[in-house]
Order: sequence, then structure tokens, then C-alpha cells
Amino acid sequence: MRQAGRYMPEYRKLREQHSLLDLCHTPELAAQVTLQPVERLGVDAAIVFADILLPFEPLGLGLSFAAGEGPHIANPLSRQADVERLPRVDPEADLGYVLEAVRLARAALPADIPLIGFAGAPFTLASYAIEGGSTRTFTRTKTLMYQAPDTWHLLLNKLAELVGGYLAAQARAGAQALQLFDSWVGSLSPQDYRTYVQPHSRRALALATEAGVPVIHFGTGTAAFLEDFAAAGGDVIGVDWRIPLDDAWRRIGEAHAVQGNLDPAALLAPAPERDRQVRDILTRAGGRPGHIFNLGHGVLPETDVGAVRAVVDLVHGR
Ligand code: CP3
Repeated sequence: MRQAGRYMPEYRKLREQHSLLDLCHTPELAAQVTLQPVERLGVDAAIVFADILLPFEPLGLGLSFAAGEGPHIANPLSRQADVERLPRVDPEADLGYVLEAVRLARAALPADIPLIGFAGAPFTLASYAIEGGSTRTFTRTKTLMYQAPDTWHLLLNKLAELVGGYLAAQARAGAQALQLFDSWVGSLSPQDYRTYVQPHSRRALALATEAGVPVIHFGTGTAAFLEDFAAAGGDVIGVDWRIPLDDAWRRIGEAHAVQGNLDPAALLAPAPERDRQVRDILTRAGGRPGHIFNLGHGVLPETDVGAVRAVVDLVHGR
């Protein structure tokens, strides 16, 4: 979960010479960053170095990342005509550099380390496209959702087709699992999730599932509608720390695998408290097959890389 990033010294070193978008646009560099956490942390899988917002470039939304301020979208969407005008994105032609990074990373990784491809879910992408950047309140997003439901559904439908096809293309390029990130879906009520979002996540996940590799459906803050979130699709359901892992798994059902769910802030705790939380998750997973140990959200930039390594070793029983 954001296992490559600013908390890692070798990543920061590359970032001194290249912007985030440069790293993403240069397959050789993206593949190199993809391998960094595998070497440094000893994790069991790699995730291709990219960003969920990259499809905004071929969509013409104007993507940039300002230092310390997160993403900025120059041409946010606000009306029906903006959404109608969005061009069709062809992953092979328009995001071919990500597919090349997948190929290069796959070729460079040890045979027993699977590579995960990923994309943003329709809701989370729509929130950035409408707000123009990060938000706490999702005011513009929800205003459009309620005031112009036809525009909303047209937008989410377009995004679902885009990311479903993009995920499948990553699988063809060599990704052995696919992850759909719905990072901000927990800002919705259960009813609004069902009405405005679930059908579009279902479509994106169905397209990804056709690629024939396992699909991870990740969200945060989903405890209030976990059953509906799982029913949208995915072989593996990602859960965060706001719900105990065993409660979540019981509600999701044993037919699904689960991923999670350490609080990233636990990596900032003294070692005994951090390790207690790790062991608690393993106990709740009960040794059943189908648990992917992970954080419930991304590694915080302030994290000591040694703390992450210690968690990996503890989970591995070393
Ligand atoms: O190692 C990995 O996990 C792969 C790389 C990866 C990045 N972004 C690179 C990146 C992945 C999986 C993402 C996904 C992503 N991007 C999500 C979904 C997962 C989540 O964390 O919720 C979201 C919401 C984004 C959008 C995004 N990208 C934001 C909001 C930011 C700024 C936040 C911040 O911490 O500054 C980014 C920038 C970004 N993408 C970084 C990285 C490593 C930050 C580091 C940098 O600037 O070099």
C-alpha cells in the first residue's frame, strides 16, 4: 500500500532528479522504483509504480503534482458538456508507458514475486476530476451527484469503461493481479453508495475480472456498507483498520479473500505497540487461507523504513 514512496531513502534520491510524473512517464525508472520495496522490505508482491490519476492526461484534464500539496487538475469537470466532450482513452496508445513499465518490471522481478497492476475506481477518480484536487468534504462531487444525476452516471460510466479496459491491458502486459483503488468511497452513505457508485464499480471490476487474474477491490471507510462493497466484485476485498479484520471477513464471507488492515499510523508507534497490533490482525485472520497482510491505507511519508521492514519480518515469522 504505497510501498514505494517518500519514506524510502532510495526513492527520495531518485525524486531529487525527477518529478513524480517523470518517474511515471519513464518506464525504465518506473520499473526501477517498482523493485525498490521488494529489495528493501522483503514484501511478497510488487505493485507497478504509477498513479491512479495518470488517465487524466489523455482525458485532457491537465494533471500536475505540486510539491507538498498533492494533485492539481487544471480543467476540472463541472457540467454535462464537459463530460460529453471527454475523449475515449485507448490504454495501449494513451497509457502505453505504464504497460511498458509493467513489462519491464515483470522481466526484472524474481519469478516468485507477483506483480500487481492497478487503477482508480470510478468514484475516487470522479472526485479528483470534479474537485480539481484533494478534498475533505467532497462538496462539488456530491453537488454534481445530487443536482445532475444524469451527468454523474455518464461520467462514472465513462470512467468504469476506461479503468476496466486499462486494468485488463495491464494484465495482458504481465500484471498477475489487479487492484482497484476506491480510496474515498467511505465518504458516501450506504444508500448513496448503492445508488450512485456500486453499478459503476461493478462494471469496472467485471471488465478487470475478464482478464483472468485475481482482482483486489480496495476501499477505506467501508465498514457501514461492506456487504454492498464486496458485492460489487473482486476476489479480494481490502479493508481498513476502522473495523476488526475478523468482523469484516465474517460480513464479506469466506468466498472472498481479504486484504488488510493495519493502521498506517501503527508504524509510528513504539515497537511493542506496533507488534501487538500486527499480531492481533494475524490472530483475527486465524491462519485461514486468503488473508493478504497489508496496511489499511498508504504508508505515511514520516514512517521509518526500518519499522516497515520489521512488520514484514514479523508477519513472515522471522
Ligand atoms: O508503491 C505503490 O503503491 C505504487 C505507486 C502508487 C502511487 N500512487 C505513486 C505516488 C500508487 C498505488 C498510487 C495510488 C494512488 N494515487 C491513490 C490510491 C491509493 C491511496 O493511497 O489512496 C490515490 C488516491 C492517488 C492520488 C495521489 N497521488 C495523491 C492524493 C497524491 C499526493 C499525496 C501525497 O502523499 O503527497 C499522489 C502522489 C503520489 N503518487 C506519491 C506516490 C509515491 C507521493 C510521493 C511523491 O510525490 O513522490
